[in-house]
Amino acid sequence: MKITVVGTGYVGLVAGACLAEFGLNICCLDKDAGKIALLNSGKIHIHEPGLQELVQHNLSAGRLKFSTDSSNLDWADVLIIAVGTPQSDDGSADLSFLNGAISDIATHAKTDKTIMIKSTVPLGTAKMVSDKLKLLAPMLNFDIISNPEFLREGSAVRDFLEPDRVVIGYNTSKAKEVAANIYKPLSSKGIPITYTKNTTAELIKYAANSYLAMRIAFINEIADICEEVDADIEEVADGIGQDKRIGRHYLRAGPGYGGSCFPKDTLALNYAAEKIGTPSKLVQATILSNELRKEKMADKILNNLKSGNTVAIMGLTFKADTDDLRDSPSIPIIKTLIEKGCKIIAYDPCIKILCEPFIHENITLATSIEEAVEKADIVAFVTEWNEFQLLDPKIFINNMKNPLVVDYRNIFDPFIMKNLGVKYISVGRKNA
Ligand code: UDX
Repeated sequence: MKITVVGTGYVGLVAGACLAEFGLNICCLDKDAGKIALLNSGKIHIHEPGLQELVQHNLSAGRLKFSTDSSNLDWADVLIIAVGTPQSDDGSADLSFLNGAISDIATHAKTDKTIMIKSTVPLGTAKMVSDKLKLLAPMLNFDIISNPEFLREGSAVRDFLEPDRVVIGYNTSKAKEVAANIYKPLSSKGIPITYTKNTTAELIKYAANSYLAMRIAFINEIADICEEVDADIEEVADGIGQDKRIGRHYLRAGPGYGGSCFPKDTLALNYAAEKIGTPSKLVQATILSNELRKEKMADKILNNLKSGNTVAIMGLTFKADTDDLRDSPSIPIIKTLIEKGCKIIAYDPCIKILCEPFIHENITLATSIEEAVEKADIVAFVTEWNEFQLLDPKIFINNMKNPLVVDYRNIFDPFIMKNLGVKYISVGRKNA
């Protein structure tokens, strides 16, 4: 089977490389010639553990190619759509890249194709794609699979190769058969495949992301309560997470969720639900709770600082093991601190050059943890990078005049910090 993946962002590149690893013949198509040249040289444009090795392995095995040539839309039997569906101003998903891909397919396809939609798309998109192709290329037949992707940045390769489940929405028996063949290497290992209608598959993706986001917003609100009543959020999360009906995943309190999916997908589900007259109060509350949280996170620093002080921000990305800054909690924290007259020295294991929205005369980038700590009046951990988790807290004692640490990810032990004489503020736990 030959497959062309349209779009080489996170989802497209990971899907292309992993499907090649299954033994399928894959072309990853993108309009960005620079990106394609880089990929053909075996290098990748994103930070994703294990992905570059997988790309190199499958390039040299001859199963994976990268191209800007639209004739690959006809070369393949299956076309996977993995283009971005960014957020529009009204909260809905912007489908212009998807619509562009559909027009390209209608222009270049000369034989019947199976279209697999991996992009996160609004409810009813599979039908819209089918209707549109019937109009644009009436002589051809297109079967439509909705196959939402659940991979997380930072563990995307493992998530693709060893998923909890695969969700397949289909509109014809041929679509179902094609999807079953593509995922045979996973189903033969016992990984469950859910077959359903296209719209159900589309909703599963929005519902899964919104539910996870809701759990995070919930545990963050419980963390706020903990701070007021001298309870410990880590113990609360353990105590409720040990209930098998609840589980411990996605109950890590922190500075609020960010990234390319949770903020966008909760807004998109909210938009869709409102539009059809069934607004979701829980999704709305999740969005609001997370927005308010991110806005007030800088207070933990400001309550302990004077204007003109220097704050070391440890971690700019929205979580560890990614170079992605989209909707990162570090953005509102730094913005507020700058407005209050603070100077920022940032350090991130993956960000080596300051870019927007961090370009400002009062923001500099340190090349090491030590350099950032030395120059700071207060050190704030915003991302839970391994490098920070392995840090000896004595570094604060040795390098700071009045050691003051704000830990938004509960990386350190409050008792150790107290014993060391560090003023320590974390999330949902008593301050040391
Ligand atoms: C998410 C979904 O998990 C994935 O299934 C989907 O395909 C894409 O969106 P991702 O955005 O890569 O993946 O990151 P994830 O690890 O889920 O974290 C999202 C945000 O929630 C991050 O800001 C993270 O720091 C935060 N988070 C996560 C918490 O604050 N607490 C938690 O317990 C878990």
